[in-house]
Amino acid sequence: MKTKKTIVITGGTTGIGFACAEYLLEEGYEVIITGRTKENLDAALSKLGNGVTGFLSDTSKLSEINQLVNSIEKKFNRIDGLFINAGIFKAASFENTSEEIFDETMDVNFKGAFFTIQKFIPIMNNPSSIVLNSSVVVFKAFADTSIYTATKAAIESIAKVLNLELAPKGIRVNVISPGVTESPIQQKSGMSDDAIKNMLEHFSNTSPIGRIVNPKDIAPILEFLVSDKSLVLRNEKIIVDGGTTM
Ligand SMILES: NC(=O)c1ccc[n+]([C@@H]2O[C@H](COP(=O)([O-])OP(=O)(O)OC[C@H]3O[C@@H](n4cnc5c(N)ncnc54)[C@H](OP(=O)(O)O)[C@@H]3O)[C@@H](O)[C@H]2O)c1
Repeated sequence: MKTKKTIVITGGTTGIGFACAEYLLEEGYEVIITGRTKENLDAALSKLGNGVTGFLSDTSKLSEINQLVNSIEKKFNRIDGLFINAGIFKAASFENTSEEIFDETMDVNFKGAFFTIQKFIPIMNNPSSIVLNSSVVVFKAFADTSIYTATKAAIESIAKVLNLELAPKGIRVNVISPGVTESPIQQKSGMSDDAIKNMLEHFSNTSPIGRIVNPKDIAPILEFLVSDKSLVLRNEKIIVDGGTTM
Protein backbone atom coordinates (compact mmCIF):
# COMPACT_ATOMS: atom_id res chain seq x y z
CA MET A 1 0.00 0.00 0.00
CA LYS A 2 1.20 3.51 -0.82
CA THR A 3 2.16 5.39 2.34
CA LYS A 4 3.30 8.66 0.84
CA LYS A 5 0.28 10.82 0.09
CA THR A 6 0.24 13.17 -2.88
CA ILE A 7 -1.23 16.60 -2.18
CA VAL A 8 -1.99 19.39 -4.66
CA ILE A 9 -1.86 22.97 -3.39
CA THR A 10 -3.26 25.59 -5.74
CA GLY A 11 -1.47 28.90 -5.32
CA GLY A 12 1.43 27.26 -3.52
CA THR A 13 4.09 29.73 -4.58
CA THR A 14 3.84 32.30 -1.76
CA GLY A 15 2.14 32.97 1.57
CA ILE A 16 -0.10 30.29 3.09
CA GLY A 17 0.19 27.85 0.19
CA PHE A 18 3.98 28.01 0.22
CA ALA A 19 4.20 27.49 4.01
CA CYS A 20 1.87 24.50 3.68
CA ALA A 21 3.98 23.02 0.87
CA GLU A 22 7.13 23.43 2.96
CA TYR A 23 5.52 21.74 5.98
CA LEU A 24 4.01 18.84 4.04
CA LEU A 25 7.38 18.17 2.41
CA GLU A 26 9.04 18.04 5.83
CA GLU A 27 6.34 15.58 6.89
CA GLY A 28 7.16 13.30 3.96
CA TYR A 29 4.30 14.08 1.56
CA GLU A 30 4.64 14.31 -2.21
CA VAL A 31 3.64 17.91 -2.96
CA ILE A 32 2.44 19.58 -6.14
CA ILE A 33 2.10 23.37 -6.22
CA THR A 34 0.55 25.68 -8.80
CA GLY A 35 0.74 29.41 -9.50
CA ARG A 36 0.20 31.71 -12.42
CA THR A 37 3.44 33.76 -12.25
CA LYS A 38 6.53 31.96 -13.57
CA GLU A 39 8.96 34.02 -11.51
CA ASN A 40 7.13 33.15 -8.26
CA LEU A 41 6.82 29.49 -9.21
CA ASP A 42 10.54 29.20 -10.05
CA ALA A 43 11.50 30.93 -6.78
CA ALA A 44 9.21 28.66 -4.76
CA LEU A 45 10.51 25.48 -6.41
CA SER A 46 14.11 26.42 -5.81
CA LYS A 47 13.39 27.21 -2.12
CA LEU A 48 11.40 24.00 -1.60
CA GLY A 49 13.99 21.68 -3.15
CA ASN A 50 13.43 17.96 -3.71
CA GLY A 51 10.05 16.24 -3.59
CA VAL A 52 7.99 19.08 -4.99
CA THR A 53 6.58 19.50 -8.49
CA GLY A 54 5.26 22.79 -9.84
CA PHE A 55 2.90 23.71 -12.64
CA LEU A 56 2.07 27.09 -14.10
CA SER A 57 -1.70 27.17 -14.22
CA ASP A 58 -4.15 30.04 -14.02
CA THR A 59 -7.00 28.75 -11.90
CA SER A 60 -9.48 31.18 -13.45
CA LYS A 61 -9.13 29.47 -16.87
CA LEU A 62 -10.89 26.15 -17.37
CA SER A 63 -8.55 25.14 -20.21
CA GLU A 64 -5.57 25.54 -17.86
CA ILE A 65 -7.30 23.55 -15.10
CA ASN A 66 -7.90 20.72 -17.60
CA GLN A 67 -4.26 20.82 -18.70
CA LEU A 68 -3.12 20.78 -15.08
CA VAL A 69 -5.22 17.73 -14.22
CA ASN A 70 -3.98 15.90 -17.35
CA SER A 71 -0.34 16.63 -16.53
CA ILE A 72 -0.77 15.52 -12.91
CA GLU A 73 -2.59 12.35 -13.95
CA LYS A 74 0.26 11.48 -16.37
CA LYS A 75 2.94 11.97 -13.75
CA PHE A 76 1.23 10.88 -10.51
CA ASN A 77 -1.83 8.90 -11.65
CA ARG A 78 -3.97 9.85 -8.65
CA ILE A 79 -3.86 12.29 -5.74
CA ASP A 80 -4.89 12.07 -2.07
CA GLY A 81 -5.50 15.68 -1.21
CA LEU A 82 -6.41 18.98 -2.81
CA PHE A 83 -5.93 22.34 -1.04
CA ILE A 84 -8.07 24.95 -2.79
CA ASN A 85 -5.93 27.89 -1.79
CA ALA A 86 -5.25 30.12 -4.85
CA GLY A 87 -6.97 33.38 -4.18
CA ILE A 88 -6.85 37.14 -4.57
CA PHE A 89 -8.10 40.11 -2.59
CA LYS A 90 -8.60 43.62 -3.98
CA ALA A 91 -9.57 46.16 -1.33
CA ALA A 92 -12.55 48.24 -2.48
CA SER A 93 -15.57 49.74 -0.79
CA PHE A 94 -18.90 48.36 -1.98
CA GLU A 95 -19.59 51.61 -3.85
CA ASN A 96 -16.20 51.50 -5.57
CA THR A 97 -16.19 47.83 -6.55
CA SER A 98 -15.83 47.88 -10.32
CA GLU A 99 -17.09 45.17 -12.66
CA GLU A 100 -13.43 44.31 -13.31
CA ILE A 101 -12.69 43.69 -9.61
CA PHE A 102 -15.98 41.78 -9.27
CA ASP A 103 -15.23 39.50 -12.23
CA GLU A 104 -11.57 38.91 -11.43
CA THR A 105 -12.27 38.04 -7.79
CA MET A 106 -15.18 35.77 -8.71
CA ASP A 107 -13.17 34.07 -11.47
CA VAL A 108 -10.22 33.20 -9.25
CA ASN A 109 -11.79 32.66 -5.82
CA PHE A 110 -15.09 31.03 -6.73
CA LYS A 111 -15.35 29.94 -10.38
CA GLY A 112 -11.74 28.75 -10.41
CA ALA A 113 -12.15 26.95 -7.11
CA PHE A 114 -15.44 25.35 -8.23
CA PHE A 115 -14.07 23.95 -11.48
CA THR A 116 -10.71 22.96 -10.02
CA ILE A 117 -12.57 20.69 -7.59
CA GLN A 118 -14.81 19.36 -10.36
CA LYS A 119 -11.91 18.54 -12.72
CA PHE A 120 -9.77 16.88 -10.02
CA ILE A 121 -12.49 14.51 -8.78
CA PRO A 122 -11.79 11.80 -11.39
CA ILE A 123 -8.17 11.48 -10.24
CA MET A 124 -8.82 11.55 -6.48
CA ASN A 125 -8.18 8.41 -4.47
CA ASN A 126 -10.68 6.75 -2.15
CA PRO A 127 -10.30 8.02 0.54
CA SER A 128 -9.11 11.54 -0.17
CA SER A 129 -9.49 15.04 1.20
CA ILE A 130 -10.43 18.43 -0.22
CA VAL A 131 -9.67 21.46 1.94
CA LEU A 132 -11.09 24.88 1.10
CA ASN A 133 -9.19 27.98 2.17
CA SER A 134 -11.91 30.41 3.16
CA SER A 135 -11.63 33.36 5.58
CA VAL A 136 -13.06 34.77 8.78
CA VAL A 137 -14.66 37.48 6.62
CA VAL A 138 -17.52 35.02 6.05
CA PHE A 139 -18.75 35.50 9.63
CA LYS A 140 -17.08 38.76 10.74
CA ALA A 141 -17.59 41.92 8.71
CA PHE A 142 -14.59 43.82 7.39
CA ALA A 143 -15.02 47.02 5.35
CA ASP A 144 -13.81 47.03 1.74
CA THR A 145 -14.18 43.27 1.30
CA SER A 146 -17.71 42.83 -0.13
CA ILE A 147 -16.89 40.85 -3.26
CA TYR A 148 -14.03 38.94 -1.58
CA THR A 149 -16.43 38.01 1.24
CA ALA A 150 -19.05 36.88 -1.26
CA THR A 151 -16.57 34.56 -3.02
CA LYS A 152 -15.47 32.97 0.26
CA ALA A 153 -19.08 32.52 1.42
CA ALA A 154 -19.89 30.98 -1.98
CA ILE A 155 -17.14 28.37 -1.86
CA GLU A 156 -17.90 27.52 1.77
CA SER A 157 -21.58 27.13 0.91
CA ILE A 158 -20.95 24.23 -1.46
CA ALA A 159 -18.91 22.20 1.05
CA LYS A 160 -22.03 20.50 2.44
CA VAL A 161 -23.35 19.63 -1.01
CA LEU A 162 -19.98 18.20 -2.05
CA ASN A 163 -19.80 16.13 1.14
CA LEU A 164 -23.12 14.55 0.20
CA GLU A 165 -22.43 14.03 -3.49
CA LEU A 166 -18.82 12.89 -3.15
CA ALA A 167 -19.31 10.60 -0.14
CA PRO A 168 -19.63 7.47 -2.31
CA LYS A 169 -16.19 8.25 -3.79
CA GLY A 170 -14.66 8.54 -0.30
CA ILE A 171 -13.95 12.24 -0.77
CA ARG A 172 -14.36 14.51 2.26
CA VAL A 173 -14.47 18.31 2.23
CA ASN A 174 -13.47 20.57 5.12
CA VAL A 175 -12.69 24.26 5.52
CA ILE A 176 -9.82 26.29 6.96
CA SER A 177 -10.82 29.82 7.92
CA PRO A 178 -7.74 31.98 8.51
CA GLY A 179 -7.83 35.32 10.24
CA VAL A 180 -5.68 38.17 8.93
CA THR A 181 -2.42 36.43 8.06
CA GLU A 182 0.77 38.23 7.07
CA SER A 183 1.39 37.37 3.42
CA PRO A 184 2.01 39.03 0.04
CA ILE A 185 -1.78 39.21 -0.49
CA GLN A 186 -1.90 42.55 1.34
CA GLN A 187 0.72 44.19 -0.93
CA LYS A 188 -1.27 43.05 -3.99
CA SER A 189 -4.57 44.34 -2.59
CA GLY A 190 -4.19 47.98 -3.58
CA MET A 191 -3.92 49.02 0.11
CA SER A 192 -1.25 51.61 0.95
CA ASP A 193 1.82 50.53 2.95
CA ASP A 194 0.56 52.61 5.88
CA ALA A 195 -2.89 51.01 5.78
CA ILE A 196 -1.30 47.53 5.75
CA LYS A 197 1.00 48.44 8.64
CA ASN A 198 -1.92 49.81 10.69
CA MET A 199 -4.05 46.76 9.98
CA LEU A 200 -1.30 44.29 10.93
CA GLU A 201 -0.52 46.30 14.09
CA HIS A 202 -4.18 46.44 15.03
CA PHE A 203 -4.61 42.67 14.70
CA SER A 204 -1.34 42.00 16.58
CA ASN A 205 -2.38 44.27 19.44
CA THR A 206 -5.94 43.00 19.76
CA SER A 207 -5.20 39.30 19.32
CA PRO A 208 -5.13 37.01 22.37
CA ILE A 209 -1.88 35.57 21.00
CA GLY A 210 -0.33 39.05 20.78
CA ARG A 211 0.77 38.70 17.18
CA ILE A 212 -0.50 38.36 13.67
CA VAL A 213 -1.18 34.88 12.24
CA ASN A 214 1.74 33.54 10.23
CA PRO A 215 1.30 31.25 7.18
CA LYS A 216 3.30 28.62 9.13
CA ASP A 217 0.48 28.52 11.73
CA ILE A 218 -1.89 27.19 9.09
CA ALA A 219 0.33 24.40 7.74
CA PRO A 220 -0.16 21.82 10.55
CA ILE A 221 -3.93 22.34 10.36
CA LEU A 222 -3.84 21.54 6.66
CA GLU A 223 -1.67 18.49 7.36
CA PHE A 224 -4.26 17.22 9.86
CA LEU A 225 -7.07 17.69 7.34
CA VAL A 226 -5.31 15.87 4.48
CA SER A 227 -4.04 13.05 6.71
CA ASP A 228 -5.92 9.94 7.84
CA LYS A 229 -6.21 11.57 11.27
CA SER A 230 -9.25 13.46 9.94
CA LEU A 231 -10.89 10.59 8.04
CA VAL A 232 -14.31 11.04 9.67
CA LEU A 233 -14.49 14.85 9.52
CA ARG A 234 -17.05 16.32 7.12
CA ASN A 235 -17.81 20.00 6.57
CA GLU A 236 -15.70 20.92 9.59
CA LYS A 237 -14.46 24.50 9.73
CA ILE A 238 -11.24 25.21 11.61
CA ILE A 239 -10.79 28.89 12.43
CA VAL A 240 -7.09 29.80 12.55
CA ASP A 241 -7.08 33.39 13.78
CA GLY A 242 -5.41 33.41 17.21
CA GLY A 243 -8.81 34.11 18.72
CA THR A 244 -9.34 37.54 17.15
CA THR A 245 -12.94 36.83 16.15
CA MET A 246 -14.10 35.00 19.27
N1 LIG B 1 -3.50 36.45 4.13
C1 LIG B 1 -4.67 36.54 4.74
O1 LIG B 1 -4.89 37.42 5.58
C2 LIG B 1 -5.75 35.54 4.42
C3 LIG B 1 -6.81 35.40 5.31
C4 LIG B 1 -7.82 34.49 5.03
C5 LIG B 1 -7.76 33.75 3.87
N2 LIG B 1 -6.73 33.91 3.01
C6 LIG B 1 -6.74 33.12 1.78
O2 LIG B 1 -5.56 32.37 1.69
C7 LIG B 1 -5.29 32.06 0.32
C8 LIG B 1 -3.82 32.30 0.04
O3 LIG B 1 -3.57 33.67 0.23
P1 LIG B 1 -2.20 34.25 0.81
O4 LIG B 1 -2.55 35.16 1.92
O5 LIG B 1 -1.22 33.17 1.02
O6 LIG B 1 -1.78 35.20 -0.41
P2 LIG B 1 -0.62 35.13 -1.51
O7 LIG B 1 0.70 35.05 -0.85
O8 LIG B 1 -0.90 36.29 -2.41
O9 LIG B 1 -0.86 33.75 -2.25
C9 LIG B 1 -1.81 33.60 -3.26
C10 LIG B 1 -1.39 32.41 -4.11
O10 LIG B 1 -2.44 32.19 -5.07
C11 LIG B 1 -1.88 32.24 -6.36
N3 LIG B 1 -2.84 32.73 -7.33
C12 LIG B 1 -3.51 33.90 -7.35
N4 LIG B 1 -4.30 33.96 -8.44
C13 LIG B 1 -4.11 32.80 -9.12
C14 LIG B 1 -4.62 32.28 -10.32
N5 LIG B 1 -5.50 32.96 -11.06
N6 LIG B 1 -4.21 31.06 -10.72
C15 LIG B 1 -3.31 30.36 -9.98
N7 LIG B 1 -2.78 30.81 -8.85
C16 LIG B 1 -3.17 32.02 -8.43
C17 LIG B 1 -0.66 33.13 -6.24
O11 LIG B 1 0.21 32.89 -7.31
P3 LIG B 1 0.77 34.13 -8.22
O12 LIG B 1 1.75 34.86 -7.35
O13 LIG B 1 1.38 33.44 -9.37
O14 LIG B 1 -0.43 34.97 -8.57
C18 LIG B 1 -0.12 32.67 -4.89
O15 LIG B 1 0.60 31.47 -5.05
C19 LIG B 1 -6.24 32.91 -0.50
O16 LIG B 1 -7.34 32.13 -0.94
C20 LIG B 1 -6.74 33.94 0.52
O17 LIG B 1 -8.02 34.43 0.20
C21 LIG B 1 -5.71 34.78 3.26
